[in-house]
Amino acid sequence: MEKAFDSESYIDGYSLQRRDASEIIEEFADEISSMYGKCIDIGCGPGHVTKELILPKLPAESVVVGADISDSMIESTKKRYRDEKRLSFFKLNIETDELPIKEIEKYDNALSFYCLHWCQDMRLTLKNIYQLLRPGGRSLVMFLSYNSGFDAFIKFQTNPRYKSYMEDVLKYVPPFQSCSNPRASLKKILEEVGFEVLHCSNREKTYVFTNMEILQKHVIAINPFLNRIPENLRDEFNTAITKEVAEHKIIFESHKNKSTGYSVLDRYEVLIAYFRKPLNSFSKMI
Ligand SMILES: C[S@@+](CC[C@H](N)C(=O)[O-])C[C@H]1O[C@@H](n2cnc3c(N)ncnc32)[C@H](O)[C@@H]1O
Repeated sequence: MEKAFDSESYIDGYSLQRRDASEIIEEFADEISSMYGKCIDIGCGPGHVTKELILPKLPAESVVVGADISDSMIESTKKRYRDEKRLSFFKLNIETDELPIKEIEKYDNALSFYCLHWCQDMRLTLKNIYQLLRPGGRSLVMFLSYNSGFDAFIKFQTNPRYKSYMEDVLKYVPPFQSCSNPRASLKKILEEVGFEVLHCSNREKTYVFTNMEILQKHVIAINPFLNRIPENLRDEFNTAITKEVAEHKIIFESHKNKSTGYSVLDRYEVLIAYFRKPLNSFSKMI
């Protein structure tokens, strides 16, 4: 995953992610408004959601530490927000086998938007969130359970021209992509890890990309293979993989604006969970 995403490309194509994060932050505004102390935003990416959507909803005295696996993402995010007194950023792999000791039980709250579907070992990931939180600490997470774009990646991997760059495609498919009941599976893991589950839902969502160019920006923003493709192949790779992704979605002619050509309707599913580490959790074996 190292340097899989580029900060500028992500910002250019993350309108879907921003809209969805904004909706959940609005829905859980009361809960977020009582998240006092030190909060971690796991998989903060370029930090726009952290700064523009999360920070204004937190109590004025709370601080946020943005964490991300990507060195380049963290470096550019640190620079972008160096003057923000309530924000800081550091590199962290939330799926690590060895969480840094100095981070254990250092956070009052944990938030994460559109990151955890990149983690294959959900139990380990949630155990790490448990470890980061102080007893009584709460967490709100949202991530993809299903998106047909990943089926498109799997199909595209058989293309002889690009096959060698995508041999490990299955490592990038969300862990619940083929799960018949993602809500029940996530809730079970959360409870087994030791959390009290306050909310857990799996929701279908839709988003319309009003033309192919906008869809392509979205695909570039979330394509973990792009930085492996030689520069001279990138444009054709982007066009070809966007076409494959579009074929897995619903393509229609826009009634409103025929000049924009075809629009693409995306139907996908997200998991949302809000949970708490019990106050008497110090004896829990995890
Ligand atoms: C789609 S972006 C989401 C960024 C931001 N949270 C938002 O809502 O716009 C996903 C981010 O998760 C990060 N990420 C992926 N796997 C991770 C891991 N194991 N630990 C920490 N961050 C991870 C990626 O580097 C990327 O910046």
